[in-house]
Amino acid sequence: MAKNLTQKIIEAHLVSGEMVAGQEISIRIDQTLTQDATGTMAYLQFEAMGVPQVKTELSVSYVDHNTLQSGFENADDHRFLQTVAAKHGIHFSRPGNGICHQVHLERFAKPGKTLLGSDSHTPTAGGMGSLAMGAGGLDIAVAMAGGAFYLNMPKVVKVELKGALKPWTAAKDIILEVLRHLTVKGGVGRVIEYTGEGVASLSVPERATITNMGAELGATTSIFPSDEATRVYLEKQGRGGDFAPLAADADATYDEELIIDLNTLEPNVAQPHSPDNVVAVKDLADKRIPVQQVAVGSCTNSSYTDLMRLAAVLKGKTVHPNVSLVVSPGSKQVFEMIARNGALADILAAGARLLESACGPCIGMGQAPSSGAVSVRSFNRNFEGRSGTADASVYLASVETCAAAAVLGYIADPNELGEFPVIELPEQYLVDDRLVLAPSENPADVEVLRGPNIKPLPVNTDLADALTAPVSLKVGDNITTDHIMPAGAKVLPLRSNIPAISEHVYVRVDPQFPARAKELGKSVIIGGHNYGQGSSREHAALAPMYLGVKAVIVKSYARIHRANLINFGLLPLTFVNENDYDTIAQGDEVAIDNLTEQIQAGNEITVKNVTKGTTFTVTHDLTGRQIDIILAGGLLNYTKKQAI
Ligand code: F3S
Repeated sequence: MAKNLTQKIIEAHLVSGEMVAGQEISIRIDQTLTQDATGTMAYLQFEAMGVPQVKTELSVSYVDHNTLQSGFENADDHRFLQTVAAKHGIHFSRPGNGICHQVHLERFAKPGKTLLGSDSHTPTAGGMGSLAMGAGGLDIAVAMAGGAFYLNMPKVVKVELKGALKPWTAAKDIILEVLRHLTVKGGVGRVIEYTGEGVASLSVPERATITNMGAELGATTSIFPSDEATRVYLEKQGRGGDFAPLAADADATYDEELIIDLNTLEPNVAQPHSPDNVVAVKDLADKRIPVQQVAVGSCTNSSYTDLMRLAAVLKGKTVHPNVSLVVSPGSKQVFEMIARNGALADILAAGARLLESACGPCIGMGQAPSSGAVSVRSFNRNFEGRSGTADASVYLASVETCAAAAVLGYIADPNELGEFPVIELPEQYLVDDRLVLAPSENPADVEVLRGPNIKPLPVNTDLADALTAPVSLKVGDNITTDHIMPAGAKVLPLRSNIPAISEHVYVRVDPQFPARAKELGKSVIIGGHNYGQGSSREHAALAPMYLGVKAVIVKSYARIHRANLINFGLLPLTFVNENDYDTIAQGDEVAIDNLTEQIQAGNEITVKNVTKGTTFTVTHDLTGRQIDIILAGGLLNYTKKQAI
């Protein structure tokens, strides 16, 4: 049967399940990547599995997010990441080497491979024909330990690119156009697969700009075929041996289709405050919206060609007096190449402010715009407040449109700049991997260095055959992960220190909760509807687990939090009769006898309220694999037991 590209790669990596859209499958992971903001937890989790060396073909730890060093915490994290990588077979990309996705594309991504990264823009490597997905830290840790990655078989959307881009129209305009059509929810449960004659005219970095922002569609990932352009890019990176041709079968079928005509595409811009709020730049041109900041960089748009184009526009000009232009080259490779060929001098001469090769303003690490400012960025997200300035208006655009705004001082169609500077790929990229440290050849001799803020990861114990525990907390409906595990400047730096961060669990609801739960040793939480809504943060399950919470009984769950509870070995139960919620009080002792037998026998479990002398029924809705994870005390223990 004819297959599309997504089906081909999944089939080649399939471990379990059937390739039927919506059904659970698991796949083998070839490569992993982490960045520093999520990496510390992923490596603590990997350490806790007791697997001495990673079992992937390649794992890379990048430092690109928290590169500001205003306290010891970030520097300590970097030192931990470097030593833990050396010990366990992981490559370490030092701070200064660049943004994880840009560097991975340049130096490591391979066509046809699976890549799992603890960052939502991991699909950038789809520009190389890699099936690249973002996931939580624990999923990355499991993949590094050799475990399969579980996901629902996605639908595949064909995006056919017709024709070729006109001058001053860029790859960014293509993905903004796709966002305009599909919206930020349009990619959920889907892989976006690019085909058509227009593909051939796009270089790999241009394709990567498009797959990068597939994350903004909510897509599982996005992917381009591996073709002559891929071969040329890999050759120029000195990696010709990594090339493998890869394409969908000619008569492959897709679940949905979208056609984008590049011949008629105009420069686009995403208006505040959503990446799908897209209009053609020319539709705003009459308003001459004044701009106070322009930022060029991020994992979306900071390749060699992007920076060369910026330099070509700025050459001999001056940044508008009302605009602050900040530039962060995506990698040391890009930075060094534009320094050596003189383009950097043109950028500086025009009045740009240069930042290091890192995420920088994209993650709110400096360069917050002035209050009420308009900032035009080559980045991928423009949610309210993300820039660090609550009332700033952030527009997302191509480097070409950013350059026009920097020079003219207002949002302008780059066609106003006149003749289009054609930028070719370089003869050869400058290859110098000295900032990527290979893992140690003598891992036994490596000491993993932990600062005072990095504590060992607490691991759950097997769920005993009987559970008798008091109710440590009873809460109502719509409890968010913010209620359970608050964020904020005080709490976030404790992300690698579970004993310390657990002191903040539920404090906004009940300041006594952490001390009480700890004193009880093990306990159960009772909740209402939509328990755990909000973010996907793992700590909202991990920290209660540390405090001894063994089970949660509620009226209904938010999906991701329930998955996190399972991952950390907390039994997620649901009342069969919602009225039973009213019969339980905080402090009551509840008991489940023959737990293992009851879970395995069916979906229903009988719970005794020992204090009140009553019984009630709950359901668990766990798959066979999830039951094994719960009985093992969580995904870490389960993975260890699989002896992978
Ligand atoms: Fe970094 Fe922003 Fe990309 S935080 S990984 S540059 S989305």
